[in-house]
Amino acid sequence: MKKFAIIMVLAALVGCGNAQNKQDEKQNGAPAGSAAVTEQEQTPNNNTMKALVTYFSASGVTRNAAKQLADIIGADLFEITPEQLYTEADLDWRDKQSRSTIEMNDKTSRPALKDGGKANLANYDVVFVGFPIWWYTAPTIINTFIEANDFEGKTIVPFATSGGSNIKKACEDLKAAYPNYKFGEGRLLNSIDKAEIEAWAAGLK
Ligand SMILES: Cc1cc2nc3c(=O)[nH]c(=O)nc-3n(C[C@H](O)[C@H](O)[C@H](O)COP(=O)(O)O)c2cc1C
Repeated sequence: MKKFAIIMVLAALVGCGNAQNKQDEKQNGAPAGSAAVTEQEQTPNNNTMKALVTYFSASGVTRNAAKQLADIIGADLFEITPEQLYTEADLDWRDKQSRSTIEMNDKTSRPALKDGGKANLANYDVVFVGFPIWWYTAPTIINTFIEANDFEGKTIVPFATSGGSNIKKACEDLKAAYPNYKFGEGRLLNSIDKAEIEAWAAGLK
């Protein structure tokens, strides 16, 4: 776990793709879900996307990031809520018997979600899925969420907060687990930069 701190600096620079290039290319694009703001975007059939920001947060950090993301891009919010909330003891990564350790050691674990974890995705083209990085990847409750819903025809965009690890492995693991779904460029949101987020979202169309 010491690794978290060591790679803290690198983590801020690494996402699942080339965010900076996309930012350069799409500097004039509208943020996801926002109203059309330029001449070009007011043409019929503009590709403004409807976005939903979903997130799981055990201790509030990802919730805060998700709210800021939704606010910046004008998206709706949906919380991925465990049937049984995680206690502080559950989150003790030093404890080999803690709930989180046991879940993360068993990649087939699918922690239950409140009300089955169904989200109404019908109206959305892009679904952001946010989570804390646990053991360098996404918590298995994110698998529960993805498997509880139908993402056919939508773009799943991972985002995460962490103690320093990047989101690369989480993105790779999710893409490998769900090869039939389309994934957009994931991003670590340990710090929120409005302009960067707008450019990222514009690049996801
Ligand atoms: C069980 C567990 C495992 C974690 N593993 C990692 C990790 O591998 N790398 C990392 O940088 N942070 C790790 N963290 C720290 C969380 O990713 C970080 O605190 C996150 O922002 C918490 O988000 P939340 O408040 O939304 O739950 C871990 C935290 C927990 C509870």
